[in-house]
Formats: sequence, structure tokens, C-alpha cells
Amino acid sequence: MQSTNRRWQNHLRSKGAISFFLDRLQSHVFSTSWQHNNGVFTFPIDKRDEEDEFARAYFEMTDAFPYEFHIEVTSHCNLNCIMCARSAMSRPKGNMELSLFKRIVDEICQHQPHAYIHLYGIGEPLMDPGLFDKLEYIASAGLINVVLFTNGQLLHRDDNARRLAASGLASIGVDLDGMSPETYEKIRVGGTFEKARDGVLALREHLAASDSRTRLELAYQVYPGVNEQEIEAFAKWCASENLEYKLVNMHTWGGLRDNVNPSGVEGLEDMHFATRKGPCPMLWSGFFIAWDGRVTHCFQDADLRQPLGDLASGSIAELWQGPHRRLRREQIKGEFSGVCLGCSTCSNVSGPGFGSPLYGSQLLD
Ligand SMILES: C[S@@+](CC[C@H](N)C(=O)[O-])C[C@H]1O[C@@H](n2cnc3c(N)ncnc32)[C@H](O)[C@@H]1O
Ligand code: SF4
Ligand code: SF4
Repeated sequence: MQSTNRRWQNHLRSKGAISFFLDRLQSHVFSTSWQHNNGVFTFPIDKRDEEDEFARAYFEMTDAFPYEFHIEVTSHCNLNCIMCARSAMSRPKGNMELSLFKRIVDEICQHQPHAYIHLYGIGEPLMDPGLFDKLEYIASAGLINVVLFTNGQLLHRDDNARRLAASGLASIGVDLDGMSPETYEKIRVGGTFEKARDGVLALREHLAASDSRTRLELAYQVYPGVNEQEIEAFAKWCASENLEYKLVNMHTWGGLRDNVNPSGVEGLEDMHFATRKGPCPMLWSGFFIAWDGRVTHCFQDADLRQPLGDLASGSIAELWQGPHRRLRREQIKGEFSGVCLGCSTCSNVSGPGFGSPLYGSQLLD
């Protein structure tokens, strides 16, 4: 058993497996792929005992250090989108100091250079005057799985599209939530449809011209009653321009935006936490770091209603193995609290190894 376990761990630690994990885990939470398969992540292992071994290896590995981070380079924004957490947030706004950013990146590099980094929080990354210094540092540090999402409104300015295309990111995401100015601008309040659309095309040209390996992906947040009617036109346009896209369901930011109509999913109430039988897999992936260094367990806790600690004074490892681990243990014991109770995002999401009855409990006790 031990040697098989070690075999799995070695397998998981290898670059390919980590990337596979990260891609699958990420896409099934935030894209329609999890909706289509009802949120159930199925790892290609048929036999229960192998799945248990896999689960054990997975829980042991992820208990040591997280492999996925949201790093909020800024919480400033140029838009006021109708579904965003930002308008309901009471925490202060700001840009992350470069010195803090470097310390965070250095620690991640030391423990998990293949970590999946989302270089955005609740704000627009291109509003951060230090963004390109941060991108330069993260590339030179050697982190390779870095993804940035932008609303695209500033891509036409200051050579931003070319610089972003040249930054070595694994992926650049741009939101385009409509196929006409009228629809797009109802959602992306303060934005202009043409700027986002033309910004996407400019990015694509710069990426092609530099033969870049950076992936370009569009996201269409499906807001029921507002933009569903243009999904087809959007999909056709993407096909004609040879662009990748995903459709994204609304969520409520852990109940912070319960006035957002999240009914892209029928009977959402039933998906609320009360129906959960096991811990949330998101707690085994990583956490959210706000611009000021404060940490919370999950991107859903956009307003830091449940802060876990502060990287201005502590380390990622300390927070992960201390307060975050206590949260993981609570959920293993069936104790659910705080933001997770109001969360509609991943109530039905499973993760690698979560099909096993182990749920990591033997490792955490
Ligand atoms: C908070 S934004 C930050 C990055 C950038 N400002 C942008 O809009 O892409 C990150 C992602 O969250 C998405 N988002 C915002 N509110 C959402 C909601 N209620 N449900 C689902 N996705 C949402 C945005 O569309 C965007 O893709
Ligand atoms: S652009 Fe992004 S951060 Fe800004 S309000 Fe819209 S979704 Fe939120
Ligand atoms: S249940 Fe909790 S950990 Fe899972 S996504 Fe929701 S807020 Fe995050």
C-alpha cells in the first residue's frame, strides 16, 4: 500500500499530473463543464481501492501546501458590473505592494512552482499601475501556471495588449458577456462593448505575431434574462474568429450578492450547503490573498468576512497548516459554518479523491 501510495504521490508531483489536476479542478468549478456533468469530477480510476490510494496521496500532498491561489493585485476597478461582489464589499480598496507580492511569489516558488495562480481578485488587474512589474517578477521567478482575467476595457491603452501578450502568462481571460453594445453594457456597467471586443482581437494578433504559447480564453457570464439570447451569436463569432470560450454560471459570492439572480441553475436553493454530505474540495486547493495581504479560505469570501490571517506578518505555510487546516478538519467532521453556508458555487462539486470514503480523515486525525 505504502509503495503504491508513494507511486501516486510521485505521479501527482510530476509536472504533467499537477497541471492536469489544476486544469480539471479549475475548469469544473468555474466553467460550464461542471454544470454539464452535474458538477461531478470523475478521475479515471475505476476500482475503489485504487481510488482510496489516490485519495490518500492527494490529501497528504495537499495537506502540506496549497497548489492554487487567487492573488488580488488590485481591488480598484473601472467598471461596476451588476453581478460582481465589488459593489457589496466594505473592505478598503488598494493595490498590492510589490514587496509583499514578491514575498508571496517567493514562498510559492519554494514549495509549489507548478501552483495555479489566478492573478486577479475583486478588481481589474489593468488598473494596477504596478501590474507589469509584478508580471515580470512572477515570470522571472519561474511560476508557469499563471492566469489573468481582465474586463478588456484597457487593452487599447498604453500598449497594454502587446505587453500582456508578451508577459509569458499561461492564459489570459477576457470577459465578453454579450454580443451587442446594448446587452454587454447592461452587465458591464461603465464599459464599452467595442473596446472589449477589439481588445480581444488585438490580444489575439499580438499573441499570434509573437508565436506565443499563452492561451487566450473568453468568458461569457450567463445572466438569466439579460444576455442568454446572445449566447448563440457569441459562440458563432468565437468560431469565426477561432477563439476559445467558456460559459459561466452566476454565483452569489457566498451569499454576499443574494440579490444577484443566480438562477442559471434551476432550484438553486437545493444546491445550498445544507445538501452537502462532505467537505468542499475547494478547501484542499488553496486560498484567496487580498491586495493588503489578508487571507481568506476562498475566492467566494470576496469581502473577507472570514479572514484567516495576514501574509504581511505570517507565511502561507503557517496559515495553511494552522487556521486553514482547522477549517478543513471541521468540514471533515461535518461542521460547516460561515461563508460556506451561503455558498451556491460548489455545493455539488467534487474533487480528485473525494469519491473515496476517506475524505482525508485518516490523514488529518
Ligand atoms: C471579479 S472579476 C476580476 C477580474 C476582472 N475585473 C474581470 O472582470 O475579468 C473575476 C471574474 O469573476 C466574474 N464574476 C463576477 N461576478 C460574478 C458572479 N456573480 N458570478 C460568476 N462570475 C462572476 C467576472 O466576470 C470575472 O470573470
Ligand atoms: S470588471 Fe471585474 S472586478 Fe470590476 S466590477 Fe466587473 S467583474 Fe467586478
Ligand atoms: S463552500 Fe466554502 S470553500 Fe467551497 S466554494 Fe463555497 S465558500 Fe468556498
